Amino acid sequence: MISTVVYRGNIIFTKSSEKFTVIENGYIFVKNGKVDKIKSELSKEDEVYEIIDYKDKLIIPGFIDLHLHAPQYANLGLGMDKQLLEWLDEYAFPEESKFKDLMYTEKVYKKVVKELWRCGTTRSVVFGSVHKDATKILMDLFIKSGLGAFVGKVNMDRNSPDYIIEDTQKSINDTEEIVCEYSNKSRLVKPIITPRFVPSCSSQVMQGIGAIAKKYNIPVQSHLSENISEIQWVKELHPECKEYGNVYNKFGLFGEVPTIMAHCIYSSEREMNLIKNNGVIAVHCPTSNLNVATGIMPVRKFMEKGITVGLGCDISGGHKISIPNVMVAAVQMSKMKWLESDKTYKPLTTAEVFYMGTKAGGKFFGKVGSFEEGYEFDALIIDDSSLGDLDRTIEERLQRYIYIGDDRNIVERYVAGQKISEPKF
Ligand code: GUN
Ligand code: FE
Repeated sequence: MISTVVYRGNIIFTKSSEKFTVIENGYIFVKNGKVDKIKSELSKEDEVYEIIDYKDKLIIPGFIDLHLHAPQYANLGLGMDKQLLEWLDEYAFPEESKFKDLMYTEKVYKKVVKELWRCGTTRSVVFGSVHKDATKILMDLFIKSGLGAFVGKVNMDRNSPDYIIEDTQKSINDTEEIVCEYSNKSRLVKPIITPRFVPSCSSQVMQGIGAIAKKYNIPVQSHLSENISEIQWVKELHPECKEYGNVYNKFGLFGEVPTIMAHCIYSSEREMNLIKNNGVIAVHCPTSNLNVATGIMPVRKFMEKGITVGLGCDISGGHKISIPNVMVAAVQMSKMKWLESDKTYKPLTTAEVFYMGTKAGGKFFGKVGSFEEGYEFDALIIDDSSLGDLDRTIEERLQRYIYIGDDRNIVERYVAGQKISEPKF
C-alpha cells in the first residue's frame, strides 16, 4: 500500500555545500518513507493527505556521524591532556578490553545508542571493540532503536597489549561470522570491516578481512594519517609502500568496496590522489584532533579536489557525541588554519559544515542526508523558541541552533520515514 504523509514547517537543508535551500512554511511530501516532493503551497488535490503541522519549527535532515568508537563511551572527558599514541595505551585500550564482559557491554552500549538518539544522530558508522559477542550486542541494540548504523568488530592482532590482542585466524573468523549473521538481518543496521589502523593489523589479517570485504561486498572503515608518529611507524612497518593509504590499498581495503578513512590530516598530494581516484570518503573529526593534539585537516583542499568529506565525533578522542558540536569545531579550526597559514584555504562556512554532517556523510548510506526527491526521510524537528527571537531568517535560526542549541531543542526524530522514540532499554 502506498502511503503519503505531508510535513509542514520551515524546511532547510543543503543540496550542495555552497548554500542552504530554504522553504519557509513549506510542505514535504513523504511517500513510503522517501521524499517525494516539496511544495510551498498546498493545492486542492493535496487535501486527501494526512498533514502533520510543525508550525514555526525547523525541519532539517538528521545528523550523520561517520566515525565514533562505542566502547570508549565511558572514557568521555578523560585523558584529554595526552597525545594520540599514549592516549591509546593509557585510556582507549584498557577501556575497550572491558567489553569481554557482556554485562558491562550491555550497560555501556545502551547508553551509547540512547545518546546518539538524543543528539539527533540518525545514522552512524561505528567502531566496536575486538569482541565478537559485544559487537553483536551493539548491532542488536541499534536494530531495536530504529536508528541506522554500520557497526564493525575491530581487528587488531599486532603491536597491541596482551590483554586485547587477537589471534590472527580468530580475528578473521569472528569477522566473517558477524558478516554472515548480520548482512541481511536488518535494512538499517549493517556490518562493516574495521581494521583498527595499520600499526595494529598484520598483513595476514588485512589480507583475510580484505578478502571477506570483497566476497560479501562489505564496506570498510579505518584510520589514516592522523598523527606524525603514527605515520612514521607505518613507514617503518611497510617500507614497501610509498604512502600510508597504499598499505590498505594493497589488501583491498581502500575503495574496492565503499570505504571510510578517519582523519587524513597529513595526507600527501599522492595519498589525496589515491583517496580521490579510489572514491574513498574522508572523515573530519575536529574535536578529537584538538583533544589528542593530532593536527588540523586541510578540509578545503580535500573539497577542492572533489573528495567527499563527512564529519565524525570520534568519541572518546572527541569528547561529545553531538554533530552540531563537531560542526562548530570544524568551522573554528578552519579559521585557525587560515589565520596561521598563507591564507590559501578560506575558512569553512556554516553551510559547508552542515552539508558535511548531513548530505556528504549520508552518501555512505545511499540517498540520505537531504530532502531532494528520492531521499529517505531522515529528519529532525527543531523547536528553537528557547534560543532567542524567531524574527530571524531560517538560515540564522539554524546557525543559532547549531551553535547554542542542544538535544532539548529536538522535538522529533525520523529515520527512513519512521518516527523514532527514545529507545526503551
Ligand atoms: N587510531 C587507532 N585507534 C584509534 C582510536 O581509537 N582513536 C583515534 N582517534 N585514533 C585511533
Ligand atoms: Fe577514531
